[in-house]
Amino acid sequence: MRPEFASDANHTILQLDDVGKTFRSDAGADVTALASVDLTIRQGEFVTLVGATGCGKTTLLDLAAGITEPSAGHLRRGSGVRLGQSVAYVFQHYTLFPWRTTLTNVAFGLQMRGIGRRQARTCAMELLARVGLAGFEKGRPHELSGGMRQRAAIAQALAIEPVLLLMDEPFGAVDDATRAELQRMLVDLWQDRGMTILFVTHNIDEAILLGTRVVVFGGPPGRVVRQFDIDLPRPRDRNMKPFTNLFLDVRQALAGGLD
Ligand SMILES: Nc1ncnc2c1ncn2[C@@H]1O[C@H](COP(=O)(O)OP(=O)(O)O)[C@@H](O)[C@H]1O
Ligand SMILES: [Mg+2]
Repeated sequence: MRPEFASDANHTILQLDDVGKTFRSDAGADVTALASVDLTIRQGEFVTLVGATGCGKTTLLDLAAGITEPSAGHLRRGSGVRLGQSVAYVFQHYTLFPWRTTLTNVAFGLQMRGIGRRQARTCAMELLARVGLAGFEKGRPHELSGGMRQRAAIAQALAIEPVLLLMDEPFGAVDDATRAELQRMLVDLWQDRGMTILFVTHNIDEAILLGTRVVVFGGPPGRVVRQFDIDLPRPRDRNMKPFTNLFLDVRQALAGGLD
């Protein structure tokens, strides 16, 4: 855990009060993506946000990342949560530079932070090993499988040692076995590093398997319908009764939140 947060487990990382976001579409009509979202995320939480397509999940992550600004309400980042320095974003579709090797993709982010080339490469090698890509440093993105590209994207995100890691359906496009491996790896990384994660998915099972808290999103326009604290022991067994009960509760909350 980072020293500045070590003494305060209740440190707020991100707080949204009554946040709304309206886009003006090409046709000139307004699209309200988010309406009146209240959400607080604290240091060390692994918050999973589950909701149907189009309910504003990506918009919420973009706001958290500072890519867009709220149209209404207030968004506050905790002290120590600095855009471009300690907030990392793993997008839904991988964003590695296609012409760079896996190693230089990851090292690039470090060099952008002023770390020398040699040290950046050493650190990138370590990160790639940590995400299971040792031996693939010289591959280019198109030579990697979908799961490996997401591993590389996670290594790239970790390179900045994020306080807050934002993830937008990062395992949405991989097969079930790969997804299970990536989920396990992410929980390990979260436990090792004491970072805070906001993870978006439309998969209820994934939300319960990973999160310390599941935020059920409804809409459009997007809003928080319900929240569930998940205190099941890890590794979680999706066949256990408490898991299946939660699954049904979340599914019901999701169905209730659809317009
Ligand atoms: N840049 C944009 N311009 C106009 N409309 C947008 C923009 N981004 C998102 N939207 C609209 O906002 C709504 C929510 O989108 P999004 O946040 O991508 O949902 P989700 O990620 O849950 O599928 C959708 O109706 C989408 O069309
Ligand atoms: Mg989305």
